[in-house]
Amino acid sequence: MNQHERSEKVKWFQNDRFGLFLHWGLYAVPARGEWVRSVEKMPEEAYLPFFDAFDPADFDPAAWARMAKNAGMRYAVLTAKHHDGFCLFDSALTDFKSTNTPFGRDIVREFLDAFRAEGLKVGLYYSLLDWHHPDYPAYGDRQHPMRENEAYRGRAQNFDRYLDYMHGQVRELLTGYGKIDIMWFDFSYDNMCGETWRATQLIQMARSLQPDLITDNRLEGGGGYQGSLLSAQPSFFSGDFACPEQIIPPQGIVDALGRPVAWEACVTMNENWGYCAHDLNYKPAPLLVRKLVECVSKGGNLLLNVGPDARGNFPEQSVQILEQIGRWMRKNSASIYGCGNAQLPKPEWGWLTKKGNTIYAHILERSIGPIAIPPLGGRIKSMRLVRDGSEIQRIEAFNTTNFPGTTFINFGPGHASYPLPDPIDSVVVIEVEP
Ligand code: GLC
Repeated sequence: MNQHERSEKVKWFQNDRFGLFLHWGLYAVPARGEWVRSVEKMPEEAYLPFFDAFDPADFDPAAWARMAKNAGMRYAVLTAKHHDGFCLFDSALTDFKSTNTPFGRDIVREFLDAFRAEGLKVGLYYSLLDWHHPDYPAYGDRQHPMRENEAYRGRAQNFDRYLDYMHGQVRELLTGYGKIDIMWFDFSYDNMCGETWRATQLIQMARSLQPDLITDNRLEGGGGYQGSLLSAQPSFFSGDFACPEQIIPPQGIVDALGRPVAWEACVTMNENWGYCAHDLNYKPAPLLVRKLVECVSKGGNLLLNVGPDARGNFPEQSVQILEQIGRWMRKNSASIYGCGNAQLPKPEWGWLTKKGNTIYAHILERSIGPIAIPPLGGRIKSMRLVRDGSEIQRIEAFNTTNFPGTTFINFGPGHASYPLPDPIDSVVVIEVEP
């Protein structure tokens, strides 16, 4: 796939900018995060009771989809299988699946139906690691729960059998569930990377089944490394977008030749992906709005995570955060969708996003006196506050006269300083002559 084909396929993704990540599975029951089995080196027998207890009576994917949509999200990615190996879909290749729990339902299918019905694009996360499958390396592996368990030393394993299983499940997801927009593989480490996963074959199969599908870069990357996607000649399975984890790249992301690369920062609301009952360290909604803006201003997306609990509910804090983000998005999403890097120096008071000849000034900080806007390289046709459409005037006052080359605006007349109309982010849309 050449650079051009890649950029065609990611167009919708780069337009939509804001998505929901959903981490859900058996780990919602112990409620200590999705790595609980690994962190606590928990044997399979200790984990299986969560399988028998999995019965999320409140599961309402239509309600989830509405919350995502109301927050201004345009796509969503659900964990079809996480590292623990538990499948949220009715795979013919395993018994370790949601349809065999007391709940008995194909969660992936219900998720896809509900989110598509709200007009969102849909993606599936699929863990390359598998701590349940007997042919996945256990003893001595870097993170397997049984990595130090002597009983697992020298256990007979046939990794090819695991790869057949893994490829088979990806085939199931890409054939039995309609159009999938994103496959989100997770993740590579050490020599568990690239062709160790039979990555060429996997991507060939995925493309033949779903030609428009886009994939992340973790068939050879991980949270902290991006594989060959950023090199001058990405590999066949380098993926279509980079996915920095729990960080926003300081300068956005370009490849070795300086070409911009599609990217998506995946970020938790608190400190865990899977539901964690004691983790109350939620990021405030205003911060998350500003971080979404920062991603867009650097040419990237934000994939914001929710970890539903064992009854199938979003944590109350997440519900409130999504509502608050939605309130801002309903007024200001024109400055997000279809927007990207304005290629102008970052202003001291916030960020710039841009769509064609339209520039959005995201003003986060009140000034002393009028607010200087950066030179925009064209004649300004109009300036309006996005949230109410009101005109923003150019200010010439006694305190601006020393700076004749600079354009000043204000949220009221004259030389004074005014409170910002939106304490989260006051967006001024500036139409510029080309
Ligand atoms: C990591 C973690 C994982 C999470 C993912 C999201 O690689 O292993 O738990 O699903 O990142 O980016």
